[in-house]
Order: sequence, then C-alpha cells, then structure tokens
Amino acid sequence: MILFTNVGVQVEPEIGALIARLDAAVDPSTMLGAGGSDPEAVVHRVKAALQAALRANDLELPARFRRTRPDTYARRLLHRDPEGRYTAVVMTWGAGQGTSLHDHSGLWCVDCVVDGEIAVTQYDLISGDGEGEGGAYALRRRPT
Ligand SMILES: [Fe+2]
Repeated sequence: MILFTNVGVQVEPEIGALIARLDAAVDPSTMLGAGGSDPEAVVHRVKAALQAALRANDLELPARFRRTRPDTYARRLLHRDPEGRYTAVVMTWGAGQGTSLHDHSGLWCVDCVVDGEIAVTQYDLISGDGEGEGGAYALRRRPT
C-alpha cells in the first residue's frame, strides 16, 4: 500500500512517472477548473492519478519497499514533495499484521493497494474532543 498525505527527495528513476502524476494532481495552478487546491478536489485528483498509474504499471516499486518486517508492518518514505504538498509513504504488511486504531489528524490521505488485499475498519467519532471528558473519545464502528 502507498499512503499519500499532504505533509511534507530525490526521485528515483523507477518512480519518476508516478511522481510526475502526483505532482500534476496536487498542482492547483493547472487544476483551477477541477477544484484548485480544495482538499477534497485534490484527494479526488490524487485518487485518479493513482488509478491511472495502476493501469499504466507505473507503480512497480523498487524491491526494498516490498520487504516485510517480522515484528511490525514496514513504513518507508517513497517521496517527499520539495514544495511540501504531499508525502508518499509505502507501507508493507506481512500476513496477519495490522495497524492500530488511528486518525490522520485532519490531513488528507489517499491509500492505494498495489499488491495483495487490505481490510480497513472505519469508525466515526460520536463524542469527545480529547480535551473534555478526561480526554476520552467515543467511537462507533461504521457498518460495512
Ligand atoms: Fe491510516
């Protein structure tokens, strides 16, 4: 899986086409008719760029990104946009591995499964803001 976020390298030749697609997707100056820098519009453009990359086989990652770790899932930086518009991270899970419950702290994120399958469980925050109620949150699992 590759995780793309808007937090902010030298681009390796193997991923040059992918990075070019992502750069275009997050460039508001070329997308004024498609939502500009509105985060929701950017997410849709990044998703479309990733779908196009999958179809064009532009997501063949260097082998070191595909290695699993025995103790936990692996998380490796693929690319950090020098303009700080996004960061691409490759996460690799071995069989039976997972990620604990988390949020993205208001950052946009697009996940792309390159190889294998992933199961994602989503939750909605139903009460709590981290400051009241002793810092407690109440969550409800979204129906699948
Ligand atoms: Fe996540």
